[in-house]
Amino acid sequence: MAIEADTRSSSSLILLKQGAEARVFESDFVGRRSVVKERFSKKYRHPILDSKLTLKRLNAEARCTTKARRLGVCTPVLYAVDPVSQTLTFEFVEGPSVKDVFLEFGLHGVNEKQLEDISSQIGDAIGKIHDGGLIHGDLTTSNMLLKNGSNQLVLIDFGLSFTSTLPEDKAVDLYVLERALLSMHSSCGNVMDRILAAYRKSSKQWSSTLNKLAQVRQRGRKRTMVG
Ligand SMILES: Nc1ncnc2c1ncn2[C@@H]1O[C@H](COP(=O)(O)OP(=O)(O)OP(=O)(O)O)[C@@H](O)[C@H]1O
Ligand SMILES: [Mg+2]
Repeated sequence: MAIEADTRSSSSLILLKQGAEARVFESDFVGRRSVVKERFSKKYRHPILDSKLTLKRLNAEARCTTKARRLGVCTPVLYAVDPVSQTLTFEFVEGPSVKDVFLEFGLHGVNEKQLEDISSQIGDAIGKIHDGGLIHGDLTTSNMLLKNGSNQLVLIDFGLSFTSTLPEDKAVDLYVLERALLSMHSSCGNVMDRILAAYRKSSKQWSSTLNKLAQVRQRGRKRTMVG
């Protein structure tokens, strides 16, 4: 509600993305370009339950984003948490998403060197958060940005993240990414193999995770055969 009122009175909020659970705006935070992520209510949920859940998710996303950063993975700086307007304000990361870069490879040919660099940064980052007991929960190429200039990988969107040390949870995290790459970026070849090669170097627990990943893949295949 607070954000909606703001949109009318101020020209500084620009809608970037309207999702099912959140709206993302570009804004200005004391002179810095920023991103405001607003979780909104689900009309079908009981209002008290709904605001409790929304607040829980808001806090979880804030905590997981900063935890990833502590584990050595680049994430946007969290500027503010506002439980009243149910918003998080982040540093605006200047640069394209991995999705945009990979789709570009599909159109104009793959830049091998850049593909290798991005894949190894992705594998390294996931290994680091997994070893720290953090599961991203939504590893897709639109939730990975590349900073202009340095090409530094930045992980975003910890809205579905949680803490776990179970190989199963880590394997499912990787499996989600594998499926996304297969469906979206088939023209980039064996990106997942490159990512997993970097993951093995980055995660001390790679062996149990990759064993589980093989099982998760088989389960996935059985499910598609059954229909
Ligand atoms: N810190 C940031 N800097 C630049 N762009 C961002 C930033 N955060 C988000 N974006 C842009 O906004 C889009 C949506 O943000 P985000 O992925 O966090 O929300 P979402 O996918 O709607 O969230 P959820 O999956 O939790 O419902 C991103 O794909 C990205 O393009
Ligand atoms: Mg997202």
